[in-house]
Formats: sequence, C-alpha cells, structure tokens
Amino acid sequence: GMMREFSGINVMEEEIRQRFTLRKVVIVPGDSDESPWVKEELGRATVLRMKEYLAGNNIIAVTGGTTMSAIADQLTPGLTSDPLLFVPARGGIGEDVRNQANTICARMAERAGVSHRVLYMPDQVSEEVYASFVKEPSINEVLSLIQHANMVIHGIGDAFTMAKRRNTNEQDLEKLQEEKAVGEAFGYYFNEVGEVVHKVLTVGLQLDQLATIPNVIAVAGGASKGKAIAAYLQSAPPNTTLITDEGAMNTLLKGN
Ligand code: BG6
Repeated sequence: GMMREFSGINVMEEEIRQRFTLRKVVIVPGDSDESPWVKEELGRATVLRMKEYLAGNNIIAVTGGTTMSAIADQLTPGLTSDPLLFVPARGGIGEDVRNQANTICARMAERAGVSHRVLYMPDQVSEEVYASFVKEPSINEVLSLIQHANMVIHGIGDAFTMAKRRNTNEQDLEKLQEEKAVGEAFGYYFNEVGEVVHKVLTVGLQLDQLATIPNVIAVAGGASKGKAIAAYLQSAPPNTTLITDEGAMNTLLKGN
C-alpha cells in the first residue's frame, strides 16, 4: 500500500467535516477511479466504522452500486455479537441486477454470516400497482424493518452516470439537464447547492428520514465523483460519516 501522509490527510478530513457539518470524515489515500485497490480500502475503512457503530438490535439498510459491492467483499463473520439483519434501503430504482440493493444486501449478509430480507418491488409501476404492492404482507414486513434501521450505508453517484446506468427515459434526462443535476444518492438527484431536483418513485427509506437514523455512512470515492459528493453533502444530515478517497476530495476542494 501507499504511505499515509498523516498530517495532510487528517487536516483535509477535519476541513471537510466542518465545512459540511458531518459526524466524521475518513479519507483513504489514492484515487479509486484509477486504482481498484483504493476501492478495497474504502471497503475496509467502512467495515471498521460499521464495527465501531453497531450496538444493540441492528438492522442495516443498504443501497446498491459497485462501491457497496466493494464493502461486501471486506465483510467477514463476527462483525458484532449482537443481532444483525441486512435489508435493502429502497425498492428497485432501475439498476442492473448486480448493482441492485437486493443483491448487495444478500451478499453482505452471506459474507457476514447473518440474515437478510429482500424487497421484491418492481421498478417503474403505475400508482395503482404501487399502492397494492405496498399492502402485500411480505413487502410490508420488509418496509417496517427498513423503518427500524439503526444504520444506513449508501453510495453517492455522479448524476448523469447514474441516470444513464438506470436507462432513465428522455423526459427525465431532460429534466435532470434543465435542473442541472450533479449528484445522486439512493434515487434522489441533487443540484450543486444540494436541492433535490428529481427522485425515483419507490418504497422504503425516504431522504427526510435519514436524519432520524443514528448511523448513516456515505461511501464514495474517485476524482470523477468530487462534484457529486459536494452536491450531496450540502443536504446530508449531521449524523453522516463520509468515507471517501483523496481523488474525490482533491476535486471537491478544487471546485470551490
Ligand atoms: C446506487 C445507489 O446503487 O449506487 C446510489 O443507489 C449510488 O445511491 C450509486 O449513487 C453509486 O454507484 P457506484 O457504482 O458508483 O458505487
């Protein structure tokens, strides 16, 4: 690995923490856009925080994405001696199976040797179908577990990268362009000043509930995500721990 320049990185962590009023900021050396091992480091740093924050009857709600997948890779049994359950944070938001919250959630639980639940909620349904699905007992049970989560772990994406990855329709793409969307997290799209300009309709955790969850861990790195991370952090609740890398933070700091 690379040598951590303690003073420099620690100063940067504190600067970001104060600027966005966050609980904690952890910056790993390197740029995950360029070196795959940096994403592994993001995963390791996240697992360390998870161990520190887990307490009592744990329900961890997770989103999807390649960064979340890198966290799953670092999980091993014995995360906590307390009860632990993984749930997806929200219903389908148009991702490929391998990037879906359900998939990540199942892999995390398998690696940690604990249980999980999945949310079988189709993407892009009519209001009526949506309303009847929510009443379905198997779905309702998972939704209520999500409402009791004491930890949320989520990724942050570049708005247009995410919109394209989700095969977003022309109309919504235009809306994102007009509204100058920059960042994205769990289906919400943000502009430069952190306002929500678009959201994918689905069940589960809603943005305004994040502030009531004791432990929120946002994980995102890479120079290409610097602006997206800055956009999201404008509205991130103060209980957020950010796990990121130097590549992303260098872009973020240059942008202002
Ligand atoms: C999605 C999450 O699955 O992954 C988003 O719902 C996040 O919140 C995105 O922005 C990030 O993906 P990746 O692959 O860049 O980690």
